[in-house]
Amino acid sequence: MADFEIHQYDVVVVGAGGAGLRAAIEASAAGARTALVCKSLLGKAHTVMAEGGIAAAMGNVYPEDNWKVHFRDTMRGGKMMNDWRMAQIHAQEAPERVHELERWGALFDRTDDGRILQRDFGGHRYARLAHVGDRTGLEMIRTLQNHAVHQGIDVFMECTITRLLTSEAGISGAFGYWRESGRFVAFSAPAVVLATGGIGKAFKVTSNSWEYTGDGHFLALTAGADLIDMEFVQFHPTGMVWPPSVRGILVTEGVRGDGGVLRNSLGHRFMFEYIPEMFRTETAETEEEADRWYTDKKNARRTPDLLPRDEVARAINSEVKAGRGSPHGGVFLDISSRRDADYIRRRLPSMYHQFKELADIDITTGPMEVGPTCHYMMGGLRVDSDTHQSTIPGLFAAGEVAGGMHGANRLGGNSLSDLVVFGMLAGRHAAEYSTASGSPAPVSEEVLDGHAEEALAPFDEHGEENPYSIQNDLQECMSSLVGIIRTESEMLEALDRLEVLKERLARVHVEGHRQYNPGWHLALDLRSLLAVSECIARAALERQESRGAQTRDDFPTTDGQWGKRRVVIRQQDGEVVVSQEPLSEMPEELRQLVEEEG
Ligand code: FUM
Repeated sequence: MADFEIHQYDVVVVGAGGAGLRAAIEASAAGARTALVCKSLLGKAHTVMAEGGIAAAMGNVYPEDNWKVHFRDTMRGGKMMNDWRMAQIHAQEAPERVHELERWGALFDRTDDGRILQRDFGGHRYARLAHVGDRTGLEMIRTLQNHAVHQGIDVFMECTITRLLTSEAGISGAFGYWRESGRFVAFSAPAVVLATGGIGKAFKVTSNSWEYTGDGHFLALTAGADLIDMEFVQFHPTGMVWPPSVRGILVTEGVRGDGGVLRNSLGHRFMFEYIPEMFRTETAETEEEADRWYTDKKNARRTPDLLPRDEVARAINSEVKAGRGSPHGGVFLDISSRRDADYIRRRLPSMYHQFKELADIDITTGPMEVGPTCHYMMGGLRVDSDTHQSTIPGLFAAGEVAGGMHGANRLGGNSLSDLVVFGMLAGRHAAEYSTASGSPAPVSEEVLDGHAEEALAPFDEHGEENPYSIQNDLQECMSSLVGIIRTESEMLEALDRLEVLKERLARVHVEGHRQYNPGWHLALDLRSLLAVSECIARAALERQESRGAQTRDDFPTTDGQWGKRRVVIRQQDGEVVVSQEPLSEMPEELRQLVEEEG
C-alpha cells in the first residue's frame, strides 16, 4: 500500500472560499467533526474578487426594496433559467446572512443614519449591495475565517483533492495529496461538501487565479453526479486589459455603480447604442439628460452602463471588433470626469491603488482600459434546491460549483449572498446527513493505491508532453472557439482539439520529485480543466439559441422552447453524455411576480 495518512470526519468540506467556510461553520456548529480542506492558503479565494458588494434586499437605501423585487431581478437577469426555488430562498435569506456577517465582525460602509449602506449594481432594481468600499469579498473571507478558526474547525491547507471516494451507499470520503510534501492523504466521511469554485483557468483571460481549474466539477462528474447549465460561463465586462501581466484582473462593477461610464475610442458612451430604440433620445444635449431620459422611460434607476453583464460584455466585444476599441484591445471606463477625486478614493480605494500600482494610471484623473474577463461559472452540480445535496447521497455542493441558482447569467453581488445562504444550508444538511447515516463504508486500500498510482502517472519516464504547453493550448482553444460568441463549426473544432489535448495529457511528463512540484500539480489540474472544457463545449453546442451568457452566431435569438429546458451532463462508461430535461414549473404567484411591470 502506498504511503498515506487517513483521517476520519463526519463532514469534509473541500474548498475554503465563502461557501466552504460558511458550510464548515454550520456543520461544526451542528456538532459534526468537520474538516476544511483547501488547495491554497486559507483566505486565498476567488470570493475576494467579488469586490463591489453582497446583494441583499435590506431596503436601507430604498425602503421599497424587498425579497420579491430581488427575486424578480435575479430571475430576469438569469433569463428565467434559474432554479426558481433557489432564487426564492436566496432572496429571502440574504438579508439575515448579511446581518450575521455584521454580528461576526464585518465592518460594512454606513448610511448617514448608521445603517448598512447599499450601492447600485447591474440588473438590480434598487441600490442593494452591502459593501466594504470595493473590498467586500475580502472582508467577508476575513470575517468567516476568524469565525471558523475560533470554532475549532480542522483546516488542511495546501491539500488538493484528486478523487472522491464512493461506495454503493453514496459518498465515503475523498483522496488527495499535500502540495508541499507530495504525500497522499485520505479522508473517510459520510458527507462531503464541494465548495471548490469555478473554472476560469480554462480561458486565457480570467479574473480567477491559479486555483480555479474546475476541480469540484470534475470530482463530481467522475464520481457519477449530474452537472447542469454548463454552457453558461460569465464574462465580466470589465477586467484590466493592460499591462499583459495583469490582464483579466477584475475592475469592480462598483465603478459603474458609483457613476463610471463606458466609452469607445471616439469618446462616445456606446452603451446607448445597445438599448432598444424606445429608450434612446436624439434630443438630449448632455449625458445626464440622456441618462434621465433612459431611466424615466425604463422606470429604472440604472444607466445603460449598468445593464446585466452578458449584455455589457457583448457590447464591448462588438465595439472592439468594429475598430472602436482602446489601444490595448478594450474600451475606456471613465469615472474621473463624473466624480471628484476624494469620492473616487473613498468609494473605490482598491481600484485606485490597483491601477496606480499595476498600470501607472491615476483613475481620479483619467480613464481605465477594460475588457471582458472570464469571471464566473453559472453551471455546476445539480443539487436539491433546499438541501444542496447532489444526485449522489452524501455529496453536497455550495457556491460557484453548484448549478441552478443563477440561470443563464448571474447578477453582480448575487454570488457573495449565494455563498453564505447556500453554504449555510449545505453545511447544515451535510451534518444532518452524516448523523443519520453513521460511519461511511471503510476505505479500501486497493482503491487508494489505484488513486495514488493515477496521481503519480505524470512522473512516468515515457511521457514527453509539457503540462504548461497543454494548458496554453487549452486556453487558446477555449477562448477562441467557445468564448463570448459561439458557433457550431467552431465548437466542433474545439471538441476535436480537446480530444487531441486529452491524448497529449495521457503522455504528460513532469521532471523532479513530489515535493512542491508545480508542474506535477498542473498536470493533475489539467484533467479537471479538460473535462470541464469538454462539458462547456458540449452543452453550448446542444443549446441551439442565444440566452444570457450563451451567444450563438448561428442561433442569434432566444427560443421559447429552449427557455423551458436545461442541458444536463453526466459521465457514462468514461464518456460525457448530454441530455435535456424540462425546467421545474414555477408556482403561479411567483410567475406573476416576475411578469409584473417594474
Ligand atoms: O464587480 C464586482 O465587484 C464583482 C462582483 C461579483 O462578481 O459579484
